[in-house]
Amino acid sequence: MEPSLEKLLKAFVHSEKAITILTGAGISAESGIPTFRGPEGYWTIGSQEYRPQEMATHRMFLNNPNEVWKWYLYRLSVCARAEPNPGHLAVAGMERLLGGRFHLITQNVDNLHIRAGNTPERTFQIHGNIFLMRCAAECVETLTPVPSVFESWTRERTLTQEDAALLRCPACGGPARPHVLWFDEVYNEPFYRLTSTLNVARNTDLLIVAGTSGTTNLPNKVAWEVSRRHTAVIVDINIDVNPFAALASRQGGFAVKDASGLVLPEILSLFEAA
Ligand code: APR
Repeated sequence: MEPSLEKLLKAFVHSEKAITILTGAGISAESGIPTFRGPEGYWTIGSQEYRPQEMATHRMFLNNPNEVWKWYLYRLSVCARAEPNPGHLAVAGMERLLGGRFHLITQNVDNLHIRAGNTPERTFQIHGNIFLMRCAAECVETLTPVPSVFESWTRERTLTQEDAALLRCPACGGPARPHVLWFDEVYNEPFYRLTSTLNVARNTDLLIVAGTSGTTNLPNKVAWEVSRRHTAVIVDINIDVNPFAALASRQGGFAVKDASGLVLPEILSLFEAA
């Protein structure tokens, strides 16, 4: 690790400053979860192939709820079979070490940060969580677990009446929907912690960004809010170039071009040894 980055991180750990970790699909790629942007992401309905950006919409759910549920149950089964990797475990270690100074903002719906040991209170799942569902008509805001029987779902299965009967709102008995932010929907506080996320960003002294391409709105707002504080520093960890790397370098921060599963454990060890 660059000596100047090491020096910055050591100094940070002895301060009372606030650290926020922002993660994207890249941190889970090493757990074998595809970003569904490759060929495995396409979903066929009849003779038509659909991209994730078309499947993950409220419009598609209204027109084809069973096909949208089948796609999510397939993705849920992929996430259920995946394991947290050293990157996830390092982020959980940082929360244990830093406590109230620590926050995690994640775009990932795969639940791997929680399974690695991060707490739901300090983990803002800004795109939701694929293992939770809620009332499609929003009769209540309550989140309920998707029944674990679906963790063994396979791509070829069809949704039976019995399956559909398990995917209902416990309050009104109407259909339930995946608790995931769709491309034709907007962030809010009750479901996606929008206000809390922006408040944390405005009080962050060190933002570590890991495994995100910067294509979505709220993560970019987070980085922008941090960059407005001239004393704050951004460290970007990505195997490829991305907008956060440029912002980090401009802000006196660092762009580390390497895998999150290697760099995050290095940072944790440095924090622990400091
Ligand atoms: N270590 C670090 N970075 C990695 C690794 C790795 N091992 N593997 C991949 N990456 C990087 C890629 O270079 C890319 O910049 O992770 C990023 C993944 O980008 P995306 O697939 O666009 O994922 P993400 O940025 O999280 O997408 C944002 O878009 O699909 C919607 O709502 C969905 O949450 C998702 C959002």
